[in-house]
Amino acid sequence: MTEFELPPKYITAANDLRSDTFTTPTPEMMQAALEASIGDAVYGEDVDTVRLEQTVARMAAKEAGLFCVSGTLSNQIAIRTHLTQPPYSILCDYRAHVYTHEAAGLAILSQAMVVPVIPSNGDYLTLEDIKSHYVPDDGDIHGAPTRLISLENTLHGIVYPLEELVRIKAWCMENGLKLHCDGARIWNAAAQSGVPLKQYGEIFDSISICLSKSMGAPIGSVLVGNLKFIKKATHFRKQQGGGIRQSGMMARMALVNINNDWKSQLLYSHSLAHELAEFCETKGIPLESPADTNFVFINLKAARMDPDVLVKKGLKYNVKLMGGRVSFHYQVTRDTLEKVKLAISEAFDYAKEHPFDCNGPTQIYRSESTEVDVDGNAIREIKTYKY
Ligand SMILES: Cc1ncc(COP(=O)(O)O)c(C=O)c1O
Repeated sequence: MTEFELPPKYITAANDLRSDTFTTPTPEMMQAALEASIGDAVYGEDVDTVRLEQTVARMAAKEAGLFCVSGTLSNQIAIRTHLTQPPYSILCDYRAHVYTHEAAGLAILSQAMVVPVIPSNGDYLTLEDIKSHYVPDDGDIHGAPTRLISLENTLHGIVYPLEELVRIKAWCMENGLKLHCDGARIWNAAAQSGVPLKQYGEIFDSISICLSKSMGAPIGSVLVGNLKFIKKATHFRKQQGGGIRQSGMMARMALVNINNDWKSQLLYSHSLAHELAEFCETKGIPLESPADTNFVFINLKAARMDPDVLVKKGLKYNVKLMGGRVSFHYQVTRDTLEKVKLAISEAFDYAKEHPFDCNGPTQIYRSESTEVDVDGNAIREIKTYKY
């Protein structure tokens, strides 16, 4: 698979494996922004924003789309729109972004109880997992009936098997439950599995489709659903302060990769992740989950590896890492892949001599960043890890 070439100013992401959000806008995107429409999108008057919303909605076989500033906003307003009469609950995977990484939005914005479920197969929730954890609306006044199932595809880089989604959908319909998808990386799922976005769209009532993860746009997410749903979601977007006025520039930037060969770009990044996963397997380095797409999750706890040592080994080879999740995107080079292999290998060997005590409190989020001042000088380092 071929590498993506960028002029020097834009290649800062080539060695950044902290997340697939670290891609930088391309010259083509910058040019597209200059040529964008300049209408007011809050009033529905911006042509490029409408084009983006309709393009993504059609790709996902939905009537309408709503451009949102972030995946968090599009997930949270989708869930708020689905839920109307508390008390109620949402069922999701215990690792779901909507539950673990959206600052209690489900409790605060939707007044919902959450039933987080650990998948019995370790990877993804099956219909049986859902059936054994959902709260039925059977007249028992003590419970908070499940109204919504929220699934993530991909989750930890794992592609949800289509047959399982079809089974879950049929059961949701029989039981009057709505089905939302956090499709921040549904593009990766579609590229890897060959299942068209349209087919995923036919299964879910709503999908939050991110543009700024693997797809490389600097900002945004499109929430898709039927017309009535999107109309109400637009109301909640406004309530949350998420209306963007002249968003044509952002829409045009996002459309660049949507109109490019995004499947090949993503499959290239997946091939790097697959190669790293194979390398880890050969070295006996344990992984947390199958590396189906663009992530390799090293099981730091099982390997007794110190995340700080891993990050330092990365820096030795000029590679940016963040905890045990190694993220690939289309701007990562093969050279970076070779370097990260060396870094991981050395951190693993170090752990054999100096096993790390991972029994501290479990943190459910992780990040590693350096804030800069107006001159670009580093002023503060922030680190949080999940062990
Ligand atoms: C699976 C998933 N959903 C939603 C989000 C939220 O996206 P944003 O950072 O744009 O709010 C992320 C962010 O990384 C994510 O990984």
